Amino acid sequence: MPAMPLDDDKRRDSKREDAHYDDLTALSPELDRELRKLEHMFTVDAAKLKEVSLQFEHELRQGLSRVSRCLLPSLESEGGNLPMLPTWVLGFPSGHECGEYLTIDLGGTKLRICWVTLNEGKGENQSDQEIYHIPKDYKVGTADQLWSFLAESMEDFMTKRHIEPEEGTVIPLGFTFSYPATQEYIDQGVLQTWTKGFDIKGVEGHDVADQLRQALHKRGLPIQIVALINDTVGAMIASAYSDPKTIMGAIFGTGCNASYMENCGSIAKLGGLPENLPMAINCEYGAFDNDRRILPRTPYDKTIDKESPRPGEQTFEKMSAGMYLGEIFRQVLVDLHSRGLLFKNQDPSKLLTPFIIKTGFLANIEDDASPSLTSTHAAFTTLLALSPTAAERLFVRRAAALVATRGARLCTAGVSAICRKKDISAGHVAADPLVYNNARFKARWAQAMAEVFDWDEARDEDPIVMTAAADGSGLGAAVISAMTLERVARGDATGLRPE
Ligand code: BGC
Repeated sequence: MPAMPLDDDKRRDSKREDAHYDDLTALSPELDRELRKLEHMFTVDAAKLKEVSLQFEHELRQGLSRVSRCLLPSLESEGGNLPMLPTWVLGFPSGHECGEYLTIDLGGTKLRICWVTLNEGKGENQSDQEIYHIPKDYKVGTADQLWSFLAESMEDFMTKRHIEPEEGTVIPLGFTFSYPATQEYIDQGVLQTWTKGFDIKGVEGHDVADQLRQALHKRGLPIQIVALINDTVGAMIASAYSDPKTIMGAIFGTGCNASYMENCGSIAKLGGLPENLPMAINCEYGAFDNDRRILPRTPYDKTIDKESPRPGEQTFEKMSAGMYLGEIFRQVLVDLHSRGLLFKNQDPSKLLTPFIIKTGFLANIEDDASPSLTSTHAAFTTLLALSPTAAERLFVRRAAALVATRGARLCTAGVSAICRKKDISAGHVAADPLVYNNARFKARWAQAMAEVFDWDEARDEDPIVMTAAADGSGLGAAVISAMTLERVARGDATGLRPE
């Protein structure tokens, strides 16, 4: 790719952000040239971001109107990239939900089990939890292994805490499953495709709630799966339980996605429901631009996609989510090393290990405030057995900032598109607390939101802000279970599996 210098404004802007520590004059001419190329590749300026956000809005509407291509791969012209999944979570909570619930959250490498007591909005809700580590090879193992592990862990949790149902009843369970699952009912969901590097055989195309139900039955556990919940929906409902300004739940973590409340009248593909009935929609927007129309993909993004278990899927997620940022950065370093531009005559074997670099590594490099970047040097030595020169340390820091900044800026495209579609001009985007507490991510995200919406520079505060989501997979899953059981008690069977 030819070196394409950025125009002065863009270059000044990107330099301003890191001005407190970057002294680019210390780079050799060849590294400076490479840096300019990377800046060109990774910069998503305001104009491009607006374009991406508009296309995002188009895909949101397309996904609501017709069944997505992911669900019907043979129908090329149908519903576009975004699944826009109805979740059967009908409206926001009242804040007065009550009862005791078991909740589980199947995360990347951990299973989190909680026992949550809701107090009808009177005082603190209680929650007791335990984390079970999922053996690494289960991520690419079999369905039976996975569900048996879940059932066994739940049995262990219940035994330790003496959780038993009252005579003639069962324990209600809210199951957070953070992968695209199509739900015809709230307690059911057919996995469309694994994401985030999972590749467990025998689950795609099946009802995951049913598979878990069978494993629970085998162990004789008195548990009833009341609701299957996406993590973004859990985050939104948990936050709305105490914050009425919540407008959506968003995860900018290992994967990326958001959910918001839609009127059933706008979900054309559903039909037959009252127009004004609110329903949470799980956008599954990591799949945005799977047909490759608009995102400025670099050769590094293309390599990551090609080498992933599901090439062609989760295009947006692979450019913006935490799971991939370290890997994008690694691809950049591998490329420069292979062209003799970085780490000359050093052994790259560790650097050649896929996914060895995590997002936190980038953050640590960016945080290194020492004049000669000694922590960066130590980080490279420890993890990669490489000893970067002073100029290389400056270079890698700037490269890390470029990758992370692009990710954070892209994360505003889906959120801004949802706001525009719903005509929302103010409110709280409940985001997972890990990312909320990352000041650099938050600042980059807020800056990009301001650019997309052309917010007045003289404003006192941003009208749409990121807030730290309340505990989605504990509190949120319990509240959703309570809302569902209240519906059952009222005799309202909307979204419930027929007996
Ligand atoms: C999954 C979504 C999930 C997101 C954040 C994506 O890979 O498909 O269901 O909400 O990650 O965890």
